[in-house]
Amino acid sequence: MPERVYIFDTTLRDGEQSPGASLNVEEKLEIARQLERLGVDVIEAGFPISSPGDFQAVQAVSRIVRECTVCGLTRAVQKDIDTAAEALKEAVRPRIHTGLGVSDVHLQHKLRISREEALERGVNAVKHARKYVEDVEYFLEDSGRADPVYLCQVIEAVIHAGATVINIPDTTGYCTPDEYGALIRFVCENVPNISRAVVSVHCHDDLGLAAANSLAGVLNGARQIECTINGIGERAGNTCLEEVVMAMRTRKDRFDLETGINTREMYRTSRMVSTATGILVQPNKAIVGANAFAHSSGIHQDGVLKERTTYEIIDPQDVGINESKIVLTARSGRHALAHRLAELGYSFDEVQIDRLYQSFLELADRKKQVYDQDLQKLVSNETSTVRQTWELLHVQVSCGDKMIPTATVTVRNNEGSMITDSCHGTGPVDAVYRAVNRIVKEPNELIEFSIQAVTEGIDALADVTVRIRHGNDVYTGRGAHTDIVVASGRAYVHALNKLIDRAVAPSAQEAAPAQP
Ligand code: KIV
Ligand code: ZN
Repeated sequence: MPERVYIFDTTLRDGEQSPGASLNVEEKLEIARQLERLGVDVIEAGFPISSPGDFQAVQAVSRIVRECTVCGLTRAVQKDIDTAAEALKEAVRPRIHTGLGVSDVHLQHKLRISREEALERGVNAVKHARKYVEDVEYFLEDSGRADPVYLCQVIEAVIHAGATVINIPDTTGYCTPDEYGALIRFVCENVPNISRAVVSVHCHDDLGLAAANSLAGVLNGARQIECTINGIGERAGNTCLEEVVMAMRTRKDRFDLETGINTREMYRTSRMVSTATGILVQPNKAIVGANAFAHSSGIHQDGVLKERTTYEIIDPQDVGINESKIVLTARSGRHALAHRLAELGYSFDEVQIDRLYQSFLELADRKKQVYDQDLQKLVSNETSTVRQTWELLHVQVSCGDKMIPTATVTVRNNEGSMITDSCHGTGPVDAVYRAVNRIVKEPNELIEFSIQAVTEGIDALADVTVRIRHGNDVYTGRGAHTDIVVASGRAYVHALNKLIDRAVAPSAQEAAPAQP
């Protein structure tokens, strides 16, 4: 019987630390529901002391999640732990994740305390957290560059104090797989009370080794992997959930380990997180990238057509890539649309279906054939939880090599007033943004603009992602339309709505103490 590896998902905490990825409470709830469907064991929902928004997110996730453990991060500080305990109060299975640096570079330069003081602080934090919950995870930050003997001393002491899970992070993504695997083995063999805790791996991808390091960790005794959807996270990101789970599943012969993940939910989860965070998935990303199952060379296509396994080690359906042979068109009825959406796993009430049907007809008129990816874009517009202070109603541009690009836009505010204005710019998109700015008057700096085709062909939907900066905060907006200028306008207004929303409720980044 294979042993179980627990999947600890930190998309909503470490993942959200990706620049510009900040999520509102509703977006976090939607992702948490999907993570539960995916079958993760633990959802790290946030860092409750960091901001009112993070506190509310952990509290809200604790209320709705029934199957998974819900976890809140803290520093090894009493006030952090009290706040996390309060946020987790209604969770069925609450976990407090506390900890402190363990490498000399962190102790000397960041914390400015001795090894003895750090050990004592860690022990006190675990004892304090155990007053609230039975499940306490302790992280030893920068374990990858720490003295293994001191690391073991701290682990023994915190397990003695009541820690149930021991997280050994390669915080800086510095280790190689052989080295990290050996570190996990060293801990398992040299900490006398280690059998009383689950050993957890938490790797960062600075050298592109996070998945390999995590897998080396489980081969050497770890039984929990901390990871994120699409591998998003601080700097180069965290271990990608899809990669490690599919590696263990596809190479059962090497790992003989199992997880509780329903792999058929992977693709949908990946799309949802990408849409909510605005972080695109690179096309060649393993498992969930657009090209992960695309065969372009003639020899490969011939092989796959004769026998799929000649060039495919994973059946795309096993990760939820389930392309329909039925293509919807403008002649498809409401029923066909609702049916296909249900097959894709979405359930909507009649009012929502009516709204989606109108957008579907508009799209089908323009692009004739509507594919699953197009439907997913329509759904993400429908389910967007950002408060719509402004709505872009009309966009009109004139441009060309001998013309001054000029745009006229009409927007409606949440009180129903419609305002029209025009402006010229360096190109049509710039002109649209300037025209919107004349109405909305929300100072910001555009720091990123990218455009992708959702499907193939000249009539494809354009999916635009923009990032705007206001002070220290970055807001991401996305918009889709067959017209790239309209898609660009929608993405910009989406980002502006997020900015305005956060200006009312301060974001995690604004109010946060430094991450632990
Ligand atoms: O990378 C890291 O060390 C962390 C800890 C806070 C667990 O994210
Ligand atoms: Zn981390």
